[in-house]
Amino acid sequence: MNKTSLISITDYSKDELLELIKLADYFEHNPEPELLKNKVIASLFFEPSTRTRLSFETAIQRLGGRIIGFTDASTSSVQKGESLRDTITNVSLYADLIVMRHPLEGAARFANEVSHVPIINAGDGANQHPTQCMLDIFSIMKTQGTLENLKIALVGDLKYGRTTHSLVQAMSNFNATFYLVSPEELKLPPALIQHIKNAGLKYYETSVLEEAIPKVDVLYMTRVQRERFADPLEYEKVKNSYVLKNYMLADSKENLKVVHPLPRVNEISIDVDSNPKAYYFQQALNGVYMREALLAHVLGIK
Ligand code: CP
Repeated sequence: MNKTSLISITDYSKDELLELIKLADYFEHNPEPELLKNKVIASLFFEPSTRTRLSFETAIQRLGGRIIGFTDASTSSVQKGESLRDTITNVSLYADLIVMRHPLEGAARFANEVSHVPIINAGDGANQHPTQCMLDIFSIMKTQGTLENLKIALVGDLKYGRTTHSLVQAMSNFNATFYLVSPEELKLPPALIQHIKNAGLKYYETSVLEEAIPKVDVLYMTRVQRERFADPLEYEKVKNSYVLKNYMLADSKENLKVVHPLPRVNEISIDVDSNPKAYYFQQALNGVYMREALLAHVLGIK
C-alpha cells in the first residue's frame, strides 16, 4: 500500500492521531493560503455528499490548491462503462492526490493499488469514513479536553454507519467505554465488537437510548442509512428507531456533547439545536481544519 494514503483509520497510530489533531488546531489558528500552491487535487464523488466534498474543497481553496473532479459519476466516462481501475489510473496522471467517495466497500483500497498518487478515502460503502473520524476525534478533544477514558454512546445505525466503525477503531486507542444503542437489526458488526474486546475495553449493548444518555460524555447520533438497505420495507421498520428531543437531555452530564456526522433526517429534533450541548454544526466546521491537516500530511508538506 502507498504509505501516505489514508484508506482506513487503522492506518494511523495513536501518536499520529494526536499529531493530526494538533495540526488541525494549528490550521484553525494559522491560515496558510500558499501551502498547496501548484498542487492539483482530484475530488471524485461517486456517491452524494455535502459536508465531506465541500469541506475538502474549502480546505483545498484555503490552502491555495486547485481542484478537478466530478460530483456525480454520471457526468464522467463511468457512464460509458469505464472501470474504476481505468478512471483512477488516468486521474492519477493529472492530480497530486485523489479524494474519493464510492458506494462499494473496499473501493478506496482498490483505487490505492492502481493509483500513482495518494488516495484519501472519503467513504467507501458501509466500511470506513476515516476523515470523518478524524474530525470527530478533533471535535471530542476540543470539547472534552482529552480523548482518554471517555464514555461514548453510539446511537442508531451501527451496522451500516461507516462513521461509527471508524470511530470505534480510533477511540479504542484511548480506553473508551462504549454504549452501543441500536435496534437488533442494526447492531455493530461482530468484527468491530471483536475489535473492542481485543482492546480490552468495556462495552454495553442496549436498544434503549434513555439508558445511555445520563452515563456518557459524548452522544454520537447517526442516521439510519437508507441507501444501504436491499429491502425498503426493512428500512421502514427501523427508520424512526431513535429521535433525540431536548427534554431527554435533562439528566445528562454537564460536559455532555451531542455530535452527529450529519446529514440528519429526523433522529435529532430541531429543539436540540439551541441546547449548548448540541455540537454537530461546529463539528462540521471542524472538518475544514482537519481536512487541511490531512491534505498537508498526506502530501508530506507538514
Ligand atoms: N458526514 C458526511 O459524510 O456528510 P456528507 O455525506 O454530507 O459528506
